[in-house]
Amino acid sequence: MDSWEQLKHDCAGCRGCSLWETRHELVFGVGNERAEVMFIGEGPGEQEDRQGIPFVGPAGKLLDDMLTMIDLDRNRVYIANIVKCRPPGNRDPLGVEQDACRGWLDRQIRLLDPKIIVCLGRIAAMGIISPDFRITREHGKWYDIDGRRVMATYHPSALLRDVSKRPEAFMDLRSLRKEIRAVCDSVYV
Ligand code: URA
Repeated sequence: MDSWEQLKHDCAGCRGCSLWETRHELVFGVGNERAEVMFIGEGPGEQEDRQGIPFVGPAGKLLDDMLTMIDLDRNRVYIANIVKCRPPGNRDPLGVEQDACRGWLDRQIRLLDPKIIVCLGRIAAMGIISPDFRITREHGKWYDIDGRRVMATYHPSALLRDVSKRPEAFMDLRSLRKEIRAVCDSVYV
């Protein structure tokens, strides 16, 4: 029987790809370990790598604002990434790195057993929903995967770069709120 303590301990010793050589801190995940809603990003950036916590840099500030818009916060959701160690220079994580890290994410998903997963950006959506996922065309759509409701929206970094995408992201958040009301037991929003 897996436990969060065991999983964190195992993950801390990971040498499954070469990213551990250049990272400062491993970024395991943050939030409520009993949450019904899980957000999955891409991988740690500079601030996250320094602090060991996901989404604490500029994109994280925007993610917090996005959660607030639908009356959520970090204590009510769980946040993890496709890869736990920072790719140097914030490049996209390579396929081999994503594959090497996948077992940790799968164990997090199994332990949390969320009703809803929200993929933040293309890399997470390609890993969780479909390898040929097109974020501009398919964001905001709901998929049923392993008994969970799964949706992707734009990555907060993309929304920082291109504010014209924000209204669409807001519609995705509204759809998320509706879905939470429909499928989550906890009194959420
Ligand atoms: N971007 C991500 O995808 N994850 C983080 O933790 C921070 C920035």
